[in-house]
Amino acid sequence: MTLPDHVGLSSDGTKVRILDQSLLPGREVYLELDQLDQLIEAIRSLRVRGAPAIGIFAGYALYVLARQLEKSAVQKELPRLGEALSNARPTAVNLSWAVRRMLQAAQGQEDPVAVLGRECRAIHEEDAAMCRAIAEHGLTLVKPGDGILTHCNAGQLATSQYGTALGPVLLGQERGIPFRVFADETRPLLQGARLTAWELQRAGVDVTLICDNMAGMVMKQGLVQACFVGCDRVAANGDAANKIGTSGVAVLAKHYGIPFYVLGPSSTIDLDCPTGADIPIEERPGEEIGSLWYREPMAPAGVKFYNPAFDVTEHDLITGIVTEKGVCNPPFSDALRRIKYGA
Ligand code: MRU
Repeated sequence: MTLPDHVGLSSDGTKVRILDQSLLPGREVYLELDQLDQLIEAIRSLRVRGAPAIGIFAGYALYVLARQLEKSAVQKELPRLGEALSNARPTAVNLSWAVRRMLQAAQGQEDPVAVLGRECRAIHEEDAAMCRAIAEHGLTLVKPGDGILTHCNAGQLATSQYGTALGPVLLGQERGIPFRVFADETRPLLQGARLTAWELQRAGVDVTLICDNMAGMVMKQGLVQACFVGCDRVAANGDAANKIGTSGVAVLAKHYGIPFYVLGPSSTIDLDCPTGADIPIEERPGEEIGSLWYREPMAPAGVKFYNPAFDVTEHDLITGIVTEKGVCNPPFSDALRRIKYGA
């Protein structure tokens, strides 16, 4: 693949090592973190981001923190550390899923730190395998030369390898199957401009960056044959939370008769959320809208901001949900249950 590992352990295994995504594309800086407050800050500030990647990160974080404890204190302290990490961001279920998995693995173990070390590596390796399988399934949904519109960043930076929504594109690129990608810039944090465009350009993919409000125009011009987006949590009925603006893309796609696919690992399915209305939506500071990317504030002082970081695309706007187990089509409820429980 085109990117080096952007989340993992330091060479001596005592710290979590990440590429600081908040500095991309201008600077490629790696951080090594081993303190709870640093690790939480890295999630909150989107130094590491993307639903699967923050799950992988949380696994490594718990391992690194557990290593610092007296052996006798590990079982008692783990739940507290896990809760603190889980609470760093609310929407992507992979975060709490990974923490729960680590805690369950360590429970009752003689040497919980060794078990945690194996479990965090397993979470990482499994994600890479899942992304690869998602990419294979996604490739069956498009033809060489198709235009694919994507929103936010659901590529390697948001996962382990390949990504979810960008997986078919990157796998296609490896196999000499070309696609034309339209990347929404993704206001306000610009994951499409800073990360998707950067990642695809490095991989040699034909990528065109557009402002979010241009998606309808390129669809109308016949330049888009499919929309591929990632997801932060899929409810039991198939409603899918993803980066703010995703549901608008789905509405446009429906209007123009373009298939709209949500791609994500099965760890993103949350059957405890019956519908999208049950998914907690993170709200972030207004400065991200008004001043973060500008030399001078781009809004009048004192104006009110509303900055929800995610929205929910209703299941009836979704053509298919692609997981490592295959493509499921509507109605989604039974298919998602089968995927999750293998029933
Ligand atoms: O706020 P972010 O950058 O973490 O949001 C990321 C997204 O919304 C992604 O599309 C989603 O996590 C899927 S990543 C494979």
